[in-house]
This record gives sequence, C-alpha cells and structure tokens, in this order.
Amino acid sequence: MTLTFIHGGTVVSATGSQPLDVLVDGETIVAVLQPGATALGADLTGTAEVVIDATGKYVIPGGVDGHTHMQMPFGGTEASDTFETGTRAAAWGGTTTIVDFVVQKPGERVQDTLGAWHQKAAGKCAVDYGFHQIIGEVNDESLKGMSELVSEGVTSFKLFMAYPGVFYSTDGQILRAMQSAGDLGALLMMHAENGIAIDVLVEQAIARGDTAPYFHGTSRPWQLEEEATHRAIMLAQVTGAPLYVVHVSAKQALEQIATARGNGQNVFGESCPQYLYLSLEEQLGAPGFEGAKWVCSTPLRSRAEGHQDELWRYLRTGDVTAVSTDHCPFCMKDQKEMGIGDFSKIPNGIGGVEHRMDLMFQGVKSGQISLERWVEVCCTTPARMFGMYPRKGVISPGADADIVIYDPNGHTSIGLGKTHHMNMDYSAYEGFEIDGHVDTVLSRGRVVIDDGKYLGSAGHGRFVKRELSQNLI
Ligand code: URP
Ligand code: ZN
Ligand code: ZN
Ligand code: ZN
Repeated sequence: MTLTFIHGGTVVSATGSQPLDVLVDGETIVAVLQPGATALGADLTGTAEVVIDATGKYVIPGGVDGHTHMQMPFGGTEASDTFETGTRAAAWGGTTTIVDFVVQKPGERVQDTLGAWHQKAAGKCAVDYGFHQIIGEVNDESLKGMSELVSEGVTSFKLFMAYPGVFYSTDGQILRAMQSAGDLGALLMMHAENGIAIDVLVEQAIARGDTAPYFHGTSRPWQLEEEATHRAIMLAQVTGAPLYVVHVSAKQALEQIATARGNGQNVFGESCPQYLYLSLEEQLGAPGFEGAKWVCSTPLRSRAEGHQDELWRYLRTGDVTAVSTDHCPFCMKDQKEMGIGDFSKIPNGIGGVEHRMDLMFQGVKSGQISLERWVEVCCTTPARMFGMYPRKGVISPGADADIVIYDPNGHTSIGLGKTHHMNMDYSAYEGFEIDGHVDTVLSRGRVVIDDGKYLGSAGHGRFVKRELSQNLI
C-alpha cells in the first residue's frame, strides 16, 4: 500500500488549527504527527512513496457537498453535468464527497429509482458519492420503501412544498413523511416555498407580459419562502422529526429557523454561495435574457433588502448549519434558452460544485467567518449531518484520506468557458477573482489533483453507504 506523507502544513479542523504532519497508508489516514525534526518525521520524508510539502499551506479535510444534482431530469431536459464530469469538477475544486439526489416521480417505486441512480453513477465518479432520496409521491408504498432505503445507506429524504404537479407534497403528505422519517431516525430535507401561491404569481406575471428572467425572482417573493419554512417547522414540531431546510435564501426564513433552533427544535438551515454572493438586482436583473444564467429556486434575493449580509451573519451564529452548492447546471444554449419569452420555462438551477471551497474561503479572507468555521460548514458538518462522520469531514487517524492542500496565498480567476471544468457554457461566478488556490487533492489516499493537473479517473469514486445522523442539535 502506498505510504503518503504530508508535512510542513497547518492542519485545519472545525475546532482549531495547528502545524501537523499527516501520514496516509493506502486509503486511510493513519497518523497525525507533531512536526519538526522528529526521527519519525525525518524518516518518513525519506521513505514514504509520496511526499507532499505543504509548507505555508492549509491541510484541510476534503470538501463535502451535501446537495448536488448530476444529470437531474428537470423541465424537459437534464442537468448538463454527468456523474463523471460533475465529480471531476468537484475534485478540481477540493470537494471529495458529494451527496446527490435520487428522483422519484409519481408512479415510480423509490427502490427502483435508487437502482436507476446507482446505474448512472457506478463506475463514473472521480470522488466518493452518496444519495438522498427525493420523494415525489408520498403514499403507503413510498413511505414503506423509506426503511429499505435507510438500510441501503440512503438516510435522508427530500420533499417539496414547491412545484405543484411535479414534486409537490401536500401538508398531509409532508406530515406522514415526517412521521416516517422520525420513526426511522432519518433526516427530512425540505424545499420550502409555497408552490401553490407561486404558481398563481407566475401565471399572472406571464399574462402581464413580464416574461424576463428577473420576474422569476419577483414571482417567488420572500414571504412565500418564510411562510413555507414556518409551516415546515411547525409540521416537524408536531411529528418530532428533525428538519433540514435546503437552499435557504431569504433572511426571514432564516429568522424562522433561528427561532426554532433557539427553542431547542432540531431544525437546520442550509445555504449556498449563490445566495451569499449574488443578487436579484445584479444577476437575475441582467439585461436581455442574461439573467437566465441565475434562475434557480429558491431565487436570488434583493441586495437592497439585505438578505446576503444577514445570511453571512447567520453563518456565524450557526443557524446556517452547512453550505452546499445545490449544483444543478444547465447550459444557456438549448437549455436555459428554452425559456426565452417565458421565464417559467427556464430550467431551474446554478452550477457551482467546483467553486464552493474557494468562494467560502473569501469569507475567511474578508473576516466574515473564521478559518475553522470554513472547514466546519464546508466539510465537517455536512459529513456529520449526513451520517458520514468521522469517515469523512475530518483529518484524524482512521478517516478516509480525503485531503486538500489549500494555498491561502494562491490565486484563482473564474472566467468564461475554459477556466472551469463543469460541463457548462458559462460560469455563474464569471469575473470572480479568488484569493486562494486548491493545490493538491487526495481522494481516499490517491492524488487526484496536483498542481493544475487532473490525475484521477472515472470509477475511483465509490458509493458511501451512510449511517443515520447523530446528535443533531
Ligand atoms: O433551482 C434549483 N434549486 N434546482 C435544483 C432543484 C432543487 O430544487 O433543489
Ligand atoms: Zn429544492
Ligand atoms: Zn437542489
Ligand atoms: Zn497554488
């Protein structure tokens, strides 16, 4: 087995940072050592097959992106990254585990859909992957199927209060699914937007001739995110089930989450870089059809209303528990373009799996979050919330050797086209200049990114059979 020695760097965890050397045997971290001229360290530098000098760099756990949609069917098309291209892009950006969503549509058996998603991903992924299950139709059969899925390592379930006629669940269905999740100890994830009211506003906007991408945002107002978030929290309280609200963008929704958490309820908020950095005015409101690049749900929010600053604040208080990307890329050509003249036909989603670690590191540079909080929200907490800790999300003996050597003095330019590796014909973050650089990435002990070279392979990434989450609040 290959012995790998990473020396000279600063190991960062969710609780602190210190100069430490890391020894990897095969796929596993076997020791974290005090640095310096110890006999062992000197010996390892001479004898390990792979020696990585991390002087001046951070040595962090590989990123865990708990929310991606590779090749997801949506609105008559499919997300443009396959499991192969999307996980390769993840590796480039220092993310070594993704948790993607299996989609059950009405009429399908959840077990069958899980099988179908295994087929899409098996042998294709550059980094490790797990699955959540979307339940598109809550009924006796899908509820029964949940326990089977849990035993197969799919321990979290997403429901939608949005998209009537597609994924939408009624309050009664939500209540039943929460009861089942609570009984199983599984985590219930919620897309919290009042889809019934939104559909009326969308129809009215189109009828008025307000067809540009900007009106995607205004027809999904924050009140309908706050209301749905509150309703989900109350339903969860009735059932006693833990609740993880995905892709929160409205500060008022986060206030609901913060209040519930303050009252001791197991409620968690997830947000994404797009909601921290981008806005209704600047991106969705771009001239012509440009804004389509940033059509996603929940939508980007108004900077004038101050959602972005409040999200950063909630990231510090802990009420934003984890940061994922909700990576769901669609190209402008032939995909986003389906909605020219009618924003409601634009496939919803933004790609960003490659940029999360870099983007969130900018919060460290600007003093908005600590170095340790960066690792916590991007690596450790998602691993813990989704039943992969301590195998993932931490640099400690026994953990998978998913390791990123991050250069805080490096630089990354996000430009058009070729500067990213996602299968998209644009970048949602075009023009962003990043202080910091992903230098080296190890996925289960194998160097997959080294100094601007991809050394990984499709099929190296394995399915992670997840445990139930523990000790939530
Ligand atoms: O616009 C989004 N978020 N697309 C992906 C599907 C979802 O709701 O997460
Ligand atoms: Zn969603
Ligand atoms: Zn999503
Ligand atoms: Zn560098």
